[in-house]
Amino acid sequence: MTRLLQTIEPILWRDEQLHLLDQRVLPHTENWLAFYDSDAVAEAIKLMVVRGAPAIGVTAAYGVVLAAREAWFSAGENWQEALIPALKRLAASRPTAVNLFWAIERMQQTCNTLSKYESPEPALLEQAKRIHQEDVKANRTMGQYGADLLDNDSIVLTHCNAGALATAGFGTALGVIRQGFIDGKIEHVYVDETRPWLQGSRLTAWELMQEGIPMTLQADVAAGALMAGGRLDWVIVGADRIASNGDTANKIGTYSLAVLAKYHGVKVMVVAPTTTIDWSIENGSQIPIEQRAHSEVSEIEGHAIAPAKVHVSNPAFDVTPAALIDAIVTEEGVVSSPSKEKMQQLKKEEKND
Ligand code: MRU
Repeated sequence: MTRLLQTIEPILWRDEQLHLLDQRVLPHTENWLAFYDSDAVAEAIKLMVVRGAPAIGVTAAYGVVLAAREAWFSAGENWQEALIPALKRLAASRPTAVNLFWAIERMQQTCNTLSKYESPEPALLEQAKRIHQEDVKANRTMGQYGADLLDNDSIVLTHCNAGALATAGFGTALGVIRQGFIDGKIEHVYVDETRPWLQGSRLTAWELMQEGIPMTLQADVAAGALMAGGRLDWVIVGADRIASNGDTANKIGTYSLAVLAKYHGVKVMVVAPTTTIDWSIENGSQIPIEQRAHSEVSEIEGHAIAPAKVHVSNPAFDVTPAALIDAIVTEEGVVSSPSKEKMQQLKKEEKND
């Protein structure tokens, strides 16, 4: 039980450096990489050393600390100007998860309050650590809110990895599953392998098995048959960006699951902190969808599994319309059957805090 409550934390700040658990080589190798320059952090986000919307945001915040250190050393009192190109490179690392842009913006706001004559590093580090801690706290709150929605002995399906690895710790969708298991609400978890990057088989299975939560790994295409068999209560997933009407971008395949769930009367829960909500866009059609390397689909660990030069499409995310979602769980509360109006209510509550 202790292990369940502690969980792995994939992002550490130690000895004035950022340390990331390399998620590309899990579950067979646990390798930590150290970063002391912001461009390397941007590259690590792009290459998915670290991935998952909240984890990307926290990492980018520490990336800004490193960028500010570089700008102070190279430009002294002109550090604020010198910082801008590095922030742009961090922001260009991945396009869909809004937590990235949210974190950079929040760090930028702190920069704006600082003197040009003093090193910005201490104040920025404090802010990055705050963002880091707030994410863990939000996950624990969401974990309980989401678990409270489950009946005893529920059978659930999750897609991708929205666990401790995808956040600062504990997880969003897996946070609900962890808390649900502690509360006796979870009988079994089905884990989609999540083609093509295999976040489900490599990361989610690893997290759940470490904690002894009963689970079964399945190919993504098995979800329909599972639902038709009538033994599934909830699909529980995370999110990369939620529009102000509740439309939700998440790992490719989430939309298909939501359509299947509607047909079979299975409920869909999206679990995400308010840092994942993009209040500036009206609906999901405005969410930029990342296209990733074709080799992720046509190869497995460097071995071709399709004819040479095959034409490939590899969107990393899709958008699930709010109408297919039963509950969006945030640290500010639960939005049931989300709509523009209900999301606005959540926004008001967020402001009142
Ligand atoms: O491409 P990834 O692995 O970064 O995609 C991650 C997801 O889609 C997660 O479900 C989402 O970021 C939520 S993580 C708490």
